[in-house]
Amino acid sequence: MKTRRPHTPSAAATVIPSSLLLILTTTCLLLLSFSIPSQSEVITLTSDTFSDKIKEKDTAWFVKFCVPWCKHCKNLGSLWDDVGKAMENETEIEIGEVDCGTDKAVCTKADIHSYPTFKVFYDGEEVSKYQGKRDVESLKTFVLDEAEKAATKAHQAHLDSDKEL
Ligand SMILES: *[C@@H]1O[C@H](CO)[C@@H](O)[C@H](O)[C@H]1NC(C)=O
Repeated sequence: MKTRRPHTPSAAATVIPSSLLLILTTTCLLLLSFSIPSQSEVITLTSDTFSDKIKEKDTAWFVKFCVPWCKHCKNLGSLWDDVGKAMENETEIEIGEVDCGTDKAVCTKADIHSYPTFKVFYDGEEVSKYQGKRDVESLKTFVLDEAEKAATKAHQAHLDSDKEL
């Protein structure tokens, strides 16, 4: 006669699922953190990040200011995402957006009076406001031009200050 060990709920039965769960959770979190940067080329700026981000060295920020309930903002559709994609290889240009509904303080500080408003910032300062046609090509041409002007000016100012030393 075979003797069987009495079947007791093994510890392993409870340990395995929970460690598996941990591994799965960790994997998901890792995947999530790796996939976020490539998912969107448009960076959302908030009250906490706006001032620091627009001061990033050698970087022009082209920022869209909107509120979710504004019809003109809704009418843009995927325009801003498309601009983000079009500029993805421009390391010295970042495409950002601010939700003036949730981050009103940023929009007050940036002197926003209507939606949508598009502004270029460089070295923490506003350098220009976009008022042209709302299509990817026009927006792209504008920001490339503004970024180059701002960089040239910053470079010149740097040379001048070196001369004074
Ligand atoms: C950015 O560079 C990658 C790799 O060279 C290229 O496949 C992609 O089409 C480029 N994107 C744009 C918008 O030029």
